[in-house]
Amino acid sequence: MAHKKTGYVPALGWNILTPLYDPLVRLTTREMSFKSRLLDEAGIDETARILDVGCGTGTLLLLTRRRSKSLLAIGLDGDMNVLGIARSKAHRRAEKITLIQAFCFNIPFADGAFDRVLSSLMLHHLTRSEKVRTLQEVVRVLRPGGELHVADWGQPHNLLMRVLAFSVRLGDSFARTADNIEGRLPALFRDAGLENISETARFATLFGTLSLYRARKPLTAAASLS
Ligand SMILES: C[S@@+](CC[C@H](N)C(=O)[O-])C[C@H]1O[C@@H](n2cnc3c(N)ncnc32)[C@H](O)[C@@H]1O
Repeated sequence: MAHKKTGYVPALGWNILTPLYDPLVRLTTREMSFKSRLLDEAGIDETARILDVGCGTGTLLLLTRRRSKSLLAIGLDGDMNVLGIARSKAHRRAEKITLIQAFCFNIPFADGAFDRVLSSLMLHHLTRSEKVRTLQEVVRVLRPGGELHVADWGQPHNLLMRVLAFSVRLGDSFARTADNIEGRLPALFRDAGLENISETARFATLFGTLSLYRARKPLTAAASLS
């Protein structure tokens, strides 16, 4: 993995594998079910401003656009190659999405710019300190009362899921995936100043438990300190 040089981990660990990402995820993760459920949980309204952090090949953003043509859908990813795939998919489907190359721990948008921040299968690529910096950025760009919705590897909910999660840990590094697999993402959301945090669903997949989480930015600064 070229993380130190590039600032991101490619979708499947190595650039050469990126073109295989869509078919692999579709076959192994119940992708359409969990991404549709994530959007249901997000309760996106017609004119919402949405940022997908680590948008990859753009599947979630394109599903978002299907729900409303008037919402603002922006995807951010560190990898130009994967954004190229997202751009081609959007072009083929004549969908309007905005894609920008940037790092999740340095989000190039103003404070309060978004109603919803989504992130799917991205946080487990980050070190603990990168997760912390990323969540601080997410809180900054959310409007008060805005919500973060995450789909990512979660704490295995049975022995089979624990065994299957081993391949993710091996491939994506034991250190980077530890907070996910040990169920510590909600605590990291809380430490970033988010509230009303919950795990809203769990999906059994060929790579272990995939969890959905929601968390809200407090309406007032005082609420975040209480
Ligand atoms: C496993 S893919 C998930 C893609 C997509 N969200 C999905 O659910 O299919 C993880 C994505 O996160 C991106 N990524 C990893 N580290 C990143 C960083 N530091 N900043 C921005 N994007 C990053 C990768 O380039 C990759 O496209």
